[in-house]
Amino acid sequence: MKKSDVVRAVLGDRYHVAPLHHGGQAFAPTNIALCKYWGKRDQDINLPLTSSLSISLGNKGATVDLRIHHGAHDEIFLNEYEVDRVSPFSKRLIEFLNLFRHHHEPRFSVHIKSNVPIAAGLASSACGFASLIMALDALFGWKLDQRELSILARLGSGSATRSLWPGFVEWHSGIRGDGMDSHGVMIEETWPELCIGLLIVSEKAKGIPSREAMQRTVTTSALYSAWPAKVSRDLSLLKQAISVCDFPLLGKTAESNATTMHATMLSAWPPITYAIPETLLAMQQVWQLRSEGLSLYFTQDAGPNLKLLFLQKDIDTVKSHFPQAEIVQPFVGC
Ligand code: PMV
Repeated sequence: MKKSDVVRAVLGDRYHVAPLHHGGQAFAPTNIALCKYWGKRDQDINLPLTSSLSISLGNKGATVDLRIHHGAHDEIFLNEYEVDRVSPFSKRLIEFLNLFRHHHEPRFSVHIKSNVPIAAGLASSACGFASLIMALDALFGWKLDQRELSILARLGSGSATRSLWPGFVEWHSGIRGDGMDSHGVMIEETWPELCIGLLIVSEKAKGIPSREAMQRTVTTSALYSAWPAKVSRDLSLLKQAISVCDFPLLGKTAESNATTMHATMLSAWPPITYAIPETLLAMQQVWQLRSEGLSLYFTQDAGPNLKLLFLQKDIDTVKSHFPQAEIVQPFVGC
């Protein structure tokens, strides 16, 4: 199955319809996985080997403003600056846009505004592709539902599958070869006291793309065989924690899921780590504070930065130890 087959299957007759409008705009939040997606059963259409569960970060994410462009090529702007057409960033985006047009028509002018650092393990591609597919839907007038948008966003980046909703989202891995059952599903529960601290220790783009790291881990790490069972345990613990607002259970499960994922990478060959010395220092600081009684946990994705997990009652304490952390309350003000 190719990406273009999935697009045709989802759009049906709408695949050949000309754009209804000259432009489309959309915002999608970034999401942080509490139980990670790590490993694919299909490389081409980003089908995961396991399900995953995330939390969306409120107003932290990307806004895409998409317009029909009458020039010879697409033009892409990121936070007001034009991005080189041959950069890996633009290539990936243009490849995605190509799925939805015929003979390179129409061309687009894409303005992306992101308030999360790009490619530093803060899921910028998740909110980028989710907002892009929503903007395409608005421009073409397809009127796709959230499930269909989630399936199409997945073709840009796996984690984008979960960025179509606020709050907690589970991405069901699905079992079908065409991936029509592999999409996000919103978990209705809210948890207003829950806080996430974005601890940026480096804004540099990651060394190895997650796609490559994932594949190398699946094919070379002796620890990877333990991962699917770990995920299924963690998913049920997280859902239990969310349903009864058991924060220590949520924090412990999320942190242990992240450290296990990174252990599978470290045991890949050649070995992979996204941690830099500052990452380890911050982890040790979290562990120290926890041993002193603070209910503080972290998670880490494909980058050196940590996301701290804690409750509203501890905001001041967390701020005093990590003054540089940006604090997000995913359920407040949504
Ligand atoms: O969506 P991708 O291909 O950037 O992969 C994301 C992988 C992790 O961020 C490490 C885990 C996750 O579930 O988001």
